[in-house]
Amino acid sequence: MFSPRHWLKQRVLSHVAARNDARRRVLGQERGLPPASWDATVSPEGHLIVGSCDVVELARRFGTPLYVVDERRLRKDYAAFLDGFRRQYPNVELGYSYKTNPLPDSIRVLHDCGALAEVISHFELWLALELGVPPERIIFNGPAKTAAALDLAVARRVKLINVDGLDEIDLLATTVARHGATQRIGVRVVTSVGWQAQFGLRLRTGEAREAFDRIRRLPQLLPVGLHVHLGTGIKHVPTYLQAIREMLEFARELRDATGIDLEYFDFGGGFGVPTVQPFDQWDSRLIQNNLPVGPVEADATPRIDDYARGISTLMREFYPENRLPTIAFEPGRALSSSAQSLLLEVLAVKRGRDGVTRVILNGGKNYALPTGYEYHEFLPASRMNEPLADTVNFYGPLCHPGDVLFVQKPFPRIAAGDIVAVMDAGAYFVPNQMNFSNPRPAAVIVGDGDVRVARERERFEDIVRLDRAARATTGSDARTGAGAVRIPTS
Ligand SMILES: Cc1ncc(COP(=O)(O)O)c(C=O)c1O
Repeated sequence: MFSPRHWLKQRVLSHVAARNDARRRVLGQERGLPPASWDATVSPEGHLIVGSCDVVELARRFGTPLYVVDERRLRKDYAAFLDGFRRQYPNVELGYSYKTNPLPDSIRVLHDCGALAEVISHFELWLALELGVPPERIIFNGPAKTAAALDLAVARRVKLINVDGLDEIDLLATTVARHGATQRIGVRVVTSVGWQAQFGLRLRTGEAREAFDRIRRLPQLLPVGLHVHLGTGIKHVPTYLQAIREMLEFARELRDATGIDLEYFDFGGGFGVPTVQPFDQWDSRLIQNNLPVGPVEADATPRIDDYARGISTLMREFYPENRLPTIAFEPGRALSSSAQSLLLEVLAVKRGRDGVTRVILNGGKNYALPTGYEYHEFLPASRMNEPLADTVNFYGPLCHPGDVLFVQKPFPRIAAGDIVAVMDAGAYFVPNQMNFSNPRPAAVIVGDGDVRVARERERFEDIVRLDRAARATTGSDARTGAGAVRIPTS
């Protein structure tokens, strides 16, 4: 039956899709973003090359799904961030947000570059210590910290604990007193911009001030800083400047009223990268209606220099040159996103009589959750030199209608066994992956043609290792699962 509402909706969406198409042509993005965006190249036989390694070869050697971390790119993105700020400001520290991609080998590379550890849970704190990070290089954040985690942090004398609530101040004070120590602390604040919700203490309502009044009465707590984290994938310098201005005004008022002179400003992470674009409302509607999303506005992403210039100018508005406080950042995405890709293999190609080519990959939302809310490039890693010949919908292997990875992607004609690379898999892929009917992927680190295994592929036995009902036997075949698990019948 004809529905005027449905008709109108389709007309509007088709119009938006046509406009996107035209814009894609102007931007030269008919094939998507070029491999050079990730410092990748293409071999003469049309294979994607990352870190001087042929990824089709990597897939053959290590199997798929496989994360590939490009060590050189990781180091490059770290250096670009730090140098960008150091060119504009003398006292800058840079941490890495463990939650973004807790692959210990990638974290190790970033620590080798000089990164502080920014951790938000007992596990992450433990991991940092296990990796040998000196406690005086660990910043402990998080919306609520357990007593056990605070105890460990205080016992090991971490660099800074950013308190997130009034009750946490009391818990921390008791913990520090028990250890007979003092602890440097900051207060996570909420400004008029950025994430609000369950985080931190609001500047506007007086909560942040109340926190400092409470801290002042507790001599074992040394208030040294303010912390903010505004969100993720942000591509807007004024948002940072607004938040930072509010923090600096607060710090000035605090100093005038109490004499507390803060010296450490941790402005969090949140910086977007050019090759990932959060979906807007139009994009989500287009996907639901099997239409391609808008092109990536890679040039619209501010450069680190833009942030650095704005923030350092602002700091100098509030402090004289000889008393400039330390500013710190703890990005995740900006450091790790573009250095990691996810190789998936084509399991099946279903060419529908409705003209839609549906490609089932051997990984879906179980490994690539962010593809549901932001644009990630999909490259035909085994057919890079072939012409576009198809328009493809990519799905994962989960038996779930929500396991959609990309709709209406112009692609070469592909077949089962081909390798597809999901780019920018270095932020929020690993921490969001799950065992939905499948083991989790292996990871390798590549650099200058060398490869080392960073994480082994999970085996079937690993998935049920902690289940009492299933006792793993030794010597089972991890590929077939044969004999892997004995389920007691009674
Ligand atoms: C407190 C804190 N710091 C840093 C980050 C890293 O954010 P991003 O990966 O967007 O840089 C997060 C992410 O949620 C966070 O919550």
